Amino acid sequence: MKKIINELEKRRQQARLGGGQARIKRQHEKGKLTARERLDILLDEDSFEEYDMFVTHRCNDFGMEKQQVAGDGVVTGWGTINGRMVYVFSQDFTVFGGSLSETHAQKICKIMDLAVQNGAPIIGLNDSGGARIQEGVASLGGYAEVFWRNAQASGSIPQISAIMGPCAGGAVYSPAMTDFIYMVKDSSYMFVTGPDVVKTVTNEIVTAEELGGANTHIKKSSVADAAFENDIETLIAIRRLFSFLPMNSREKAPFLKTEDDKNRIDYSLDSIIPKNANQPYDMHEIVEKIADEGDFLELQAEHAKNIIIGFLRLDGEVVGLIANQPMVLAGCLDINASKKAARFIRFCDCFNIPILTLVDVPGFLPGTDQEYGGIIKHGAKLLFAYAQASVPKVTLITRKAYGGAYDVMASKHIRADVNYAWPSAEIAVMGAKGAVEILYRNELGDAEKIAQRTEQYEKRFANPFIAAERGFIDDVIMPHNSRKRLIRAFSTLKNKQMQMPPKKHDNIPL
Ligand code: HXC
Repeated sequence: MKKIINELEKRRQQARLGGGQARIKRQHEKGKLTARERLDILLDEDSFEEYDMFVTHRCNDFGMEKQQVAGDGVVTGWGTINGRMVYVFSQDFTVFGGSLSETHAQKICKIMDLAVQNGAPIIGLNDSGGARIQEGVASLGGYAEVFWRNAQASGSIPQISAIMGPCAGGAVYSPAMTDFIYMVKDSSYMFVTGPDVVKTVTNEIVTAEELGGANTHIKKSSVADAAFENDIETLIAIRRLFSFLPMNSREKAPFLKTEDDKNRIDYSLDSIIPKNANQPYDMHEIVEKIADEGDFLELQAEHAKNIIIGFLRLDGEVVGLIANQPMVLAGCLDINASKKAARFIRFCDCFNIPILTLVDVPGFLPGTDQEYGGIIKHGAKLLFAYAQASVPKVTLITRKAYGGAYDVMASKHIRADVNYAWPSAEIAVMGAKGAVEILYRNELGDAEKIAQRTEQYEKRFANPFIAAERGFIDDVIMPHNSRKRLIRAFSTLKNKQMQMPPKKHDNIPL
């Protein structure tokens, strides 16, 4: 017995060493932590239970039978984050470059199956050279098994990916199907085809960092939701994101008791809207003044800055926020903003997270770029996502709500539950200037008359009352009361139930 126990300890020690000290040193020299060091930071102390530590590959080609490393390049198991269970896998770059073999894939699939079955989220730490070249199609099959499970798990349990090294080729499609992607700046990249292939095919000369580094994906492509300076910051940020998420689609997001008074009044909100309707202000300020302890976790902060998305808490309950940002493109909706917000709404709806929408939108962004790029289809994604979301939806119009964008931004008509407006709200088909130019085209030469017409239009439409008279707005509230009124509105919706017509699934305009 003692012999076996000694053998067990020896095997464990070997497995913990992964690809050996020299490769661990190389990993550290690149500023990267090892697979196990990463899990130590991600999970609560002593909470990690490892599965399949002794699994090895079964490849006999290219001399691989002589290179067996316990664990086969991925550390899998479960642990807790602030006491809440989570399944994890962490690819070990020191073992065959973290490349995915048939058995490596089987280890990931095992914990994905457990995560879905047991209703717990899964976090994947990706650091891999891609398909294990020596294994050929067995490796590709392994990837596809992971992909299939990503699709099955979607909407059932939250799935989070961290990209902490290379992630290239078809391998990118597993993270792409998860709910959130966080990247490490400078040491990670994601692309379907690398710089060499790009050069051969398109003659473009581009570095790996330019093509698929963190900055590219948080700013341009929006593939990633956020990026951080190093491994430690990234893992701590994932712990924070995790604190806003429920365990699965049957549960609610975790409640966090707050010292922040739910009746807190904030008079500074009364003067936040500039006198001139064309002057911008920072919507973040409103979000932070409303949220519990001013705490707001923004996602995709560097992409499509004309819309803000993220999580906050109101009286301890998690809420998903979508808000137009007048500081960028005057808060217009465009292709990128529509896609960004639509996917976030879908996430919130999957996981029972109520939605708060703050509206200051002058309309959809005009231009050939937008039309040729399919703003019709992409704008429809946002409309569809809002219309279909059955979670509690509360909307507050702070200033402009013009045209189709008024309808789209969680209006009463697409079934928001409670709709409020500040006295500064202007709910109309368009702004006064544009409206007068169309209605009184033949008077355009007469500046005085046009000024008069504009004033008339503003008086009639640049207010929340016409919408309120029709019941499209439930109440006009004072800005300083916003936190209190929003919390009260969400509290009435706790037991909301909505019946959907029977169907297999919807057909969102993808
Ligand atoms: C087997 C691999 C490997 C792979 C790296 N290694 N990638 N072993 N299969 N895919 C091994 C190396 O042989 C080396 O072993 C160790 O990992 C570290 O690799 P280095 O090259 O020394 O590291 P580095 O210089 O940091 O470069 C990392 C890298 C490079 C950029 C990832 O290794 C690379 O280009 N690898 C090949 C990537 C690739 O073409 N993969 C297939 C893509 S297609 P030793 O023993 O020296 O430590 C794909 C399809 C997926 O993934 C399809 C899904 C549908």
